[in-house]
Amino acid sequence: MITYFGTPRIETDRLILEKFKLTDAQAAFDHWLSDERVSDNRVSAAHQSISQTEERLFNIVSDYESKEFCYWAIKLKESGELIGEIDLYDIEKATGNCEVSYSLGCNWWNKGYGTEALRAVVEFGFTQMSLHKISAAHNTDNPASGRIMSKAGMLQEGIIRDMIRNSKNQYKDCAVYGILQGDYCKKI
Ligand SMILES: CC(C)(COP(=O)(O)OP(=O)(O)OC[C@H]1O[C@@H](n2cnc3c(N)ncnc32)[C@H](O)[C@@H]1OP(=O)(O)O)[C@@H](O)C(=O)NCCC(=O)NCCS
Repeated sequence: MITYFGTPRIETDRLILEKFKLTDAQAAFDHWLSDERVSDNRVSAAHQSISQTEERLFNIVSDYESKEFCYWAIKLKESGELIGEIDLYDIEKATGNCEVSYSLGCNWWNKGYGTEALRAVVEFGFTQMSLHKISAAHNTDNPASGRIMSKAGMLQEGIIRDMIRNSKNQYKDCAVYGILQGDYCKKI
């Protein structure tokens, strides 16, 4: 059975994962939500105006009222700078299975932060929430995302053709990854 904690603060070597605040809107907009280099790898389009980001953050902050909502801001421990986001979603009570997604601003790519955040959320999902399985999918033309899934212990389960259509109306093949709680616990 899943145990829900909402979105608790999680600390890693270099990062703090914590709830978003409404005051994070400008940094979220500037650092990744308005950037097509990030949104091209996601389903939602880049934000054109700060009001879109404010609305999104308003919805996220409202959803924190539910203990079942897991959506973290990723901040650098040293500076407090907001660099990205990571969330667990589609958490199914019947199976204990869910999905994970994440984005970081380009300025912070390839420094190991994505791997660090994903590993922390996978650990939390299995050891605290007792999830059964965590899955994710990345566009096959976005190998960095697959790389961090592998580094977090996820296994590739297949390629789904034309799995998504992005905001530019392009269909994308996606590689689907997953990790089971049993496999995770055997490794730690
Ligand atoms: C995916 C994302 C979160 C990765 O974060 P990150 O902090 O850069 O990840 P890390 O630094 O921990 O690891 C990146 C890995 O990808 C590798 N990588 C980067 N670009 C690559 C490329 N073009 N081809 C293959 N590997 C690549 C890096 O070498 C590194 O692997 P290594 O540690 O073995 O050298 C970040 O690129 C991002 O936010 N992208 C846009 C949004 C997105 O794609 N979200 C996920 C949707 S599924």
